Amino acid sequence: MIYRDHFQNYKSYQIPKAQLIIADIPYNLGKNAYASNPSWYKDGDNKNGESELAGKEFFDTDNDFRPAEFMHFCSTMLKKEPKEKNSAPCMIVFCEFEQQFYLIELAKRYGLGKYINLVFRKNFSAQVLKANMKIVGNCEYGLLLYRDKLPKFRNNGKMVFNCFDWLKDTENEKIHPTQKPIDLLKSLIEIFTDDGDVVIDPVAGSGSTLVAAERLNRKAYGFEIKKEFYTKAIQWLNEEKQIRDDIKLFGFAKSKVERIMPVLF
Ligand SMILES: C[S@@+](CC[C@H](N)C(=O)[O-])C[C@H]1O[C@@H](n2cnc3c(N)ncnc32)[C@H](O)[C@@H]1O
Repeated sequence: MIYRDHFQNYKSYQIPKAQLIIADIPYNLGKNAYASNPSWYKDGDNKNGESELAGKEFFDTDNDFRPAEFMHFCSTMLKKEPKEKNSAPCMIVFCEFEQQFYLIELAKRYGLGKYINLVFRKNFSAQVLKANMKIVGNCEYGLLLYRDKLPKFRNNGKMVFNCFDWLKDTENEKIHPTQKPIDLLKSLIEIFTDDGDVVIDPVAGSGSTLVAAERLNRKAYGFEIKKEFYTKAIQWLNEEKQIRDDIKLFGFAKSKVERIMPVLF
């Protein structure tokens, strides 16, 4: 379920409290949003000169993002810490490297006093066209934030490294410039939740977190203020639901096969 609204307006929607919040917050990149991305240049090639995206921000909404309101929302919407061990809620924030230090301090003010830093290691780099750079970035960063008790952890008794592999998502259509890979989101959801748990994404973009959660039979809720992304996210979520219904009814994803090979039907 995704709402076309600011997450600040959450009270009107009566959403259940979350076991896990996943949020990929605006990176406050301002006018350099595409600085480490090939689309800074025409056709992604620096020999062609700069494209219309050079020196632009991702969205006007990035400027209005208020981290304190965001943290308040998250601390309110995370489930209370239960008495039992191994079932406490947590949140994962994808953020820019330098944002981490600010977010750690901010989270403390809202009762999320503990953290584990996360690194996501890509098998590619968007910075390769910056010819003067000898070292190109291939990592994204994030934080796992929680109150006091260690979060629910489901990995068949095995530990996980705090450095996760981020493989390019070649399966799903790209509908958002900072869309996260479904497989990565699924791995995170599987580690920190069980079947039927609630997952919330306050800044849902393409709806990728909600799709990943739905695929794992979790209850997913999200907010997205930009109409364009909200509309595409709704469409993606509806397609997912249709695929699930098809599999129940026909034993295969009829609607998906129909789209790829209409001649068969
Ligand atoms: C970094 S993107 C998230 C991308 C997403 N993780 C994905 O995989 O597609 C952040 C999104 O938050 C939205 N946003 C910014 N401020 C918001 C707010 N106050 N409430 C809801 N959405 C907001 C922006 O429009 C943007 O699409």
